[in-house]
Amino acid sequence: MAAKILLFALLLVTSPFAFASDPSPLQDFCVADEMSRVFVNGFVCKDPKVAKPEDFLFSGLDKPGNTSNKFGSKVTLIDASKIPGLNTLGVSMARLDVAPHGLNPPHIHPRATEILTVIEGSLYVGFVTSNPENKLFSKVLNKGDVFVFPAGLIHFEFNFGPTRAVGLASLGSQNPSLNRIGESVFGSNPSISDDILAKAFQVDKKTIDWIQAQFTSTNQN
Ligand SMILES: *[C@@H]1O[C@H](CO)[C@@H](O)[C@H](O)[C@H]1NC(C)=O
Repeated sequence: MAAKILLFALLLVTSPFAFASDPSPLQDFCVADEMSRVFVNGFVCKDPKVAKPEDFLFSGLDKPGNTSNKFGSKVTLIDASKIPGLNTLGVSMARLDVAPHGLNPPHIHPRATEILTVIEGSLYVGFVTSNPENKLFSKVLNKGDVFVFPAGLIHFEFNFGPTRAVGLASLGSQNPSLNRIGESVFGSNPSISDDILAKAFQVDKKTIDWIQAQFTSTNQN
């Protein structure tokens, strides 16, 4: 019996299946202790007796994000680093501002599915499925439309319209993370060698150097 339990525990620990969401909480809440220097999966809880309403509050998402950058877009992500009370609860949200002809460039959230609603303007959005199909699922979203981006898939939002677009997204992780493909591949620090990228993208090194130059001078918006 003990051996069976041990085997089961081992299988759990070594399971090849990734869990598709954050681990379930084991208590009402676990407000992040921002003073803690201990690193765990998420944040260390502070004593629940000293938790305050403010630990669960963020103010200011009514303010437009600054879209004066090369992409003409701004994502304001409200995750557990912004609301300590979100720690261990498995959700977060974001405000997306996109100027006319602006783009939220192709990116992934490694840990979260996203559900986006447009509350102002219009957005052309899409995601691409895994290899080998690489099928693009795209749609024009108008005010009130809601679209889902499955966890881990590359997606984008483009504002083709003449007015600004605003979206509100919910994400299925307290820390969904935002990995932009351009920055990750061509703007890493230190750089991935242009030999590798030339081979990967089947172009010459000069082309890679040129693309890398677009990502080294400017940072995240
Ligand atoms: C928006 O960002 C630009 C570029 O960084 C900056 O020059 C400008 O002052 C910012 N505007 C506001 C309102 O913060």
